[in-house]
Amino acid sequence: MKYKHVVITHPGGPDVLKMVEDELREPKAGEVRVKILATGVAFTDVMMREGVYPGVPELPYSPGYNIVGTIDKLGQEVSDFTLGQRVVALTIVGGYSEFLCIPAHDLVPVPESADSILAVSVVLHYLTAYQMLHRVARVEAEERILIHGAGGGVGTALLELGKLAGLEMYGTEAQAKHALVSQLGGIPIDYQSEDFGDRIRQLTTGGIDVVFDAIGGLNLWRSYRLLCQGGRLVNYGFLSAFKGSSNKMVAIGATLVQVGLLNLIPDTRKASFYSIASYKTKHPDWYREDLTILLNLLAGGQIKPVIADCLPLAEAIHAHELLDQGAVSGTLILICNQ
Ligand SMILES: NC(=O)c1ccc[n+]([C@@H]2O[C@H](COP(=O)([O-])OP(=O)(O)OC[C@H]3O[C@@H](n4cnc5c(N)ncnc54)[C@H](OP(=O)(O)O)[C@@H]3O)[C@@H](O)[C@H]2O)c1
Repeated sequence: MKYKHVVITHPGGPDVLKMVEDELREPKAGEVRVKILATGVAFTDVMMREGVYPGVPELPYSPGYNIVGTIDKLGQEVSDFTLGQRVVALTIVGGYSEFLCIPAHDLVPVPESADSILAVSVVLHYLTAYQMLHRVARVEAEERILIHGAGGGVGTALLELGKLAGLEMYGTEAQAKHALVSQLGGIPIDYQSEDFGDRIRQLTTGGIDVVFDAIGGLNLWRSYRLLCQGGRLVNYGFLSAFKGSSNKMVAIGATLVQVGLLNLIPDTRKASFYSIASYKTKHPDWYREDLTILLNLLAGGQIKPVIADCLPLAEAIHAHELLDQGAVSGTLILICNQ
């Protein structure tokens, strides 16, 4: 049987994405074949498309960091799942596809009352936000946090989960997304027309407990300066490397070096880098535990992920164009099977 998937043919802009047809393979022992209902489209996919994401397969390959689907076929030695069961997984690659074989230990069941599209959006953005809040920064109620890019996929998840944790929240964003940031409980700051550091100092006294910074580069120093003693800076992205950097790999490396340099400052503030992929490898138990908590919050109506749009898999190029234009608020979804 044939199946369709979208592959990155070579590094470049959105038009390097191409729909191809291949022979469907059988799941190996320990694997499950999933019929994918939907996959998320996120900035990490843009990094893969541009050839600056580490640890990916050789080209051509399908991007697609997170999926929701139903179990189509069980490989040998898999006993925990049943045919037709609905599951999510953080696949890192491979999600832009009608079918995918996935190790069974990567799958997490979706509660019956949870919507599939909302469930897939929980996997990347909310798991990132949850683990940064509760595993890395270990936030406590009433702490004050600053989120850069608060209207984006991870940003909106941080706002929703931060509100549940009882945090005081500030978020930098372009003006167009301020209503969304306010609606989710954050105080918006326009990073394009004002200095966010000055604005924070006007609005608060005593500094910020935790800054979540996916901008990187020199922004990290500006974020760090806002921290109170005992404050934590969590870097998890390199957006500045994609805005006007001639060599993205060098700019990404420079951000990681700066996280290390900040930790050499002799004070009680701390900087760290979070990677969902490394966390999943190092702590597979946390991956399943945290995802289960989030899916239950979703099923209970305590979180309501913001869905930017749902497009058919065949419109993957358009989805990447939207991301490149910064025209996405929340999570953008590709529908892989109706
Ligand atoms: N380390 C990890 O495990 C992990 C996991 C998930 C995501 N990420 C990374 O996290 C970042 C965000 O991902 P996402 O999916 O949330 O992307 P997204 O949906 O595109 O959100 C990013 C947001 O940041 C805003 N922004 C851009 N430059 C900014 C600046 N200088 N100051 C404040 N806001 C700015 C963008 O809006 P405008 O451009 O319109 O202002 C956009 O709303 C990406 O770099 C991604 O690779 C890392």
